[in-house]
Amino acid sequence: MTADQIHLLRRSFGRVEQQSQVAALIFYRRLFELDPSLRPLFKSDIETQAAKLMDMLGLALSLTSCPGALETELIESGARHAGYGARDEHYVTVGQAMVTMLEESLGDEFTPATREAWIAFYTFASETMKRGAAQASLISGSASPPSPEARK
Ligand code: HEM
Repeated sequence: MTADQIHLLRRSFGRVEQQSQVAALIFYRRLFELDPSLRPLFKSDIETQAAKLMDMLGLALSLTSCPGALETELIESGARHAGYGARDEHYVTVGQAMVTMLEESLGDEFTPATREAWIAFYTFASETMKRGAAQASLISGSASPPSPEARK
């Protein structure tokens, strides 16, 4: 990711954070519309969920200070997510809900360059988390088997 993209992530994250509960309502409404079977995975109330969503997006900001540590954190997060019931295909759905939430929360500020920056971040984060989930399932020998790619 470029320095400009990181700057765009920081700025737009600040705007979303100011309206985190509305953003969370938009995100979860869209997520459950796209895949109602995901609803039982999320157990907390909307305030906690809003805080978690901000944690999720806030991960993007650590890109600025320490990319190596971010990668380790994402690998561990992917392993935890496997335990929450997240499967590889869910990452696409969550990404779509994130884009809808950003579109609705940022309005005109969600410029094509900002959209591209978030997609670049999300692609990196989700690919790294899926790697963490695949490693965790290899270690425990349980959960869903790793994809053929992950086994190489
Ligand atoms: C890049 C993608 C994602 C990021 C950065 C992310 C980030 C987070 C963070 C920071 C938390 C707080 C708890 C923790 O850190 O362990 C969390 C919780 C959670 N995430 Fe994600 N997440 C992502 C994708 C997904 C996907 C694809 C699913 C599958 C549906 C999912 C389902 C959950 C669930 C079920 C919880 C716990 C919620 C609860 O206890 O109510 N996440 N996520």
